[in-house]
Amino acid sequence: MYIEIDRSLRNPIRNQLYEQLLERILKGELAPGTKMPSSRHLHEKNNISRNIIIEVYEQLSSEGYLEGKPGKGTWVAENVILGDSYRRRTQTEAGTEKKTKRKDLIRFNCGIPDLKQFPVKKWKRSLDYAWSLADEKMLSYPPVEGRPELRTEICDYLLLVKGIRVRPECVIMTSGTSETLLLIASHFSGGARELIIEDPVIDFAADIFNQSGYKLRGIPVDESGIDTGNLPSKPAGKLIFVSPSHQFPTGCVLSAKRRVSLVDYAARNGMFIIEDDYDSEFRYEGYPLRSLFLMNPEIVIHAGTFSKNMFPSIRLGYMVVPESIASDILITKEKHQMRTPAQIQLAAAHFMKSGAFTRNIARMKRIYKRKHSLISQKLSDAFGGDIEINSNAAGMHLNVSHKRYEFSADDCRKFEEFGVRVDCEASYSLNGKKGGLLLGFGNVSEKEIAEGIKRLKRAVDSVIGRIE
Ligand SMILES: Cc1ncc(COP(=O)(O)O)c(C=O)c1O
Repeated sequence: MYIEIDRSLRNPIRNQLYEQLLERILKGELAPGTKMPSSRHLHEKNNISRNIIIEVYEQLSSEGYLEGKPGKGTWVAENVILGDSYRRRTQTEAGTEKKTKRKDLIRFNCGIPDLKQFPVKKWKRSLDYAWSLADEKMLSYPPVEGRPELRTEICDYLLLVKGIRVRPECVIMTSGTSETLLLIASHFSGGARELIIEDPVIDFAADIFNQSGYKLRGIPVDESGIDTGNLPSKPAGKLIFVSPSHQFPTGCVLSAKRRVSLVDYAARNGMFIIEDDYDSEFRYEGYPLRSLFLMNPEIVIHAGTFSKNMFPSIRLGYMVVPESIASDILITKEKHQMRTPAQIQLAAAHFMKSGAFTRNIARMKRIYKRKHSLISQKLSDAFGGDIEINSNAAGMHLNVSHKRYEFSADDCRKFEEFGVRVDCEASYSLNGKKGGLLLGFGNVSEKEIAEGIKRLKRAVDSVIGRIE
């Protein structure tokens, strides 16, 4: 029997032999009752070590695909054919996939902070400190609500930066806002599954609720945030999702009037508002915006994340919840076994306590402010009065609308031919409505900004030229 072994692959020979034998058995090429070749035969024909062959035979036998009779040989077992239902994995060997994308693509990805600037050495010190505390408690399942050390630090930080005064009991650790939303979607799924949600909106929020069986009632967003005049007079569900301090993707800020009317609406209708606060630390003019939570802590669930003020792979976030639902949310969380690594929490607590966290934010704010004004300048130089830049001097992305054209996701894909990647509002619209371009400037260098905007100008001219 010939076995095709490719010794250049990273897939070990043992796996290749196993996969090929299993494939032949499942397809029926090695029919039930067929006697398998001896290990000596396979070794001689294919130059595979006999130990490997014996090991693979043993594995297939222990899984029930082969049956051995001591001293007599090995046979294919009965009833193990998949026949036409068998599908071969077509996955390319990792690392061998052909890269067709331009290597020098400049990516204005939204929501990625300047990762080169993160003080890795200081973080490593905090991680080392966390590991120095390793005991049985730390190595076991972490508390579902999160480590007390971190929740206390977050309370201090919330008061200092966001003006939120809460007890640690109301702060629940999660693995980021995405997990916070999954938890909320699950927790409230017993009632009418309808979510009032701003439109356009961050895609994963819409997807999480949609896939949890919620009907999404999109409410349009204009330059003053979610249009509260469009809220349904008789809402069916209990939840509203908004990002009031820096709406994603439009970049607008929810106006004071609308804040009041949204909170009043939710209170009158017995609803909870999920306040997605992903980057309010980064405001480059004026004071940090106050949270909706301050207007009514009994009905606002404030969702915070460490993805922007630290780095996304930390997978750490928190929710500040009304006292009345804190313990019930924890019951749901416990049922799902949603827990966040203790070492990361302890390291984050140390990082915050040492002052490295706030120092890093202050430094990054200066860097982003500079990049924000550079990219705004380069856009104005390139496009002049054809565009309008909406950002409210905050965050790490700009929303750029063109006065004569609204972009689709297809348009943005075409831009890549010009060596630049930008996102677009249309990808975040609940009904595919075209709109502005989104330029994340957090993780691009100043040099890339200058070159990227030149490329963008050529790309936009080409797309608009094709149409006009
Ligand atoms: C609008 C918005 N909210 C929240 C988040 C944070 O999500 P997570 O904490 O899961 O990284 C992001 C991340 O990109 C975002 O764009």
